[in-house]
Amino acid sequence: MDKALLEATAAALVAPGKGILAADESNGTMSKRLEGVGLESSEEARRAYRANLFATPGCESAISGVILYDETIRQNMDDGTPIPDYLTSRGIIPGIKVDTGTIDLDGYPGEKVTKGIEAEPDNGWLDLGTRCTEYFDMGARFAKWRAVITIGQGMPSDTCIRANADALAHYARICQDSGLVPIIEPEVLMSGTHTDQECLEATSRILVQTWEYCMNHYGVHLPGALLKPNMIIAGDDCPNQLSREEVARKTVECLTSHSGGTGLGGVVFLSGGQSDEDATDHLNLMNAMGVDHPWELSYSYGRALQAAALKAWAEEGAEASQAAFAHRAKMNSLARSGDWNISLE
Ligand code: G3H
Repeated sequence: MDKALLEATAAALVAPGKGILAADESNGTMSKRLEGVGLESSEEARRAYRANLFATPGCESAISGVILYDETIRQNMDDGTPIPDYLTSRGIIPGIKVDTGTIDLDGYPGEKVTKGIEAEPDNGWLDLGTRCTEYFDMGARFAKWRAVITIGQGMPSDTCIRANADALAHYARICQDSGLVPIIEPEVLMSGTHTDQECLEATSRILVQTWEYCMNHYGVHLPGALLKPNMIIAGDDCPNQLSREEVARKTVECLTSHSGGTGLGGVVFLSGGQSDEDATDHLNLMNAMGVDHPWELSYSYGRALQAAALKAWAEEGAEASQAAFAHRAKMNSLARSGDWNISLE
């Protein structure tokens, strides 16, 4: 394992003022997103939208890396340049989603475990180690694996927490052995009626178990890894929602309590369905709090960086889409130092 390379990549991904664009929607999810704004989806439609996004002038000042999907990392920009080469030439680090989705957790209805370590001949996926080597050769320097944790009656079960923590840590080790910085994403979903306290408890449990498996079972080098957590937020359908200030405070407290001593390379939040402004303001408030914590607090947003750009792509075209993306990227870049405010919107 090349620890120096991993640490350097992790540090570059959370460089001041910068964060990650998650553009790694699977073909199914991206098709739904395009259809959601009235466009037909196809391999070319997905490429054209994303190539335009990546070509946004100046976005490298706010975007340190882009997470790609397997289809996209093999595609080209409009001029024929391979997408990973193009991003690298702009000083943006190419990354790759390497999980292959979720399956039902046997005996635990409603719960899922993420897969992607073993080969899946029926779906055309090679085993994770082989894919990591190929992606590294294509220019990728980091990877992402997303576990999904649902809160509900009796959920998350300990079995679900352990199975997903084990898989996250196993994935992280395989990536690091191939030179890829793993983004460890244990996402506690926002859907449901659960309270912020239940979100806090589920998030704490999955963090504790994930570090246990990383440190004591798989020998993951955590300074060469990034955590991509949810924020502490009540479920979408919970009548009692925290203020933005409380979300920021509880999220930082949760991370400090359960990830503080890990030596992690950085924290890059997911947006998880928050509004664009909530995602930006929560990050801004966390960075403005002045609390001493050992990591950069940054973003790895999908929807909160792309929703406006996708709508503009459908309704107004290429330039408007780039302008919308550049604006959200700039807003989140300012939030990295607590310098965002509503008047800038
Ligand atoms: O896995 C989730 C994505 O990488 C982040 O997407 O910001 O829309 O939750 P999101």
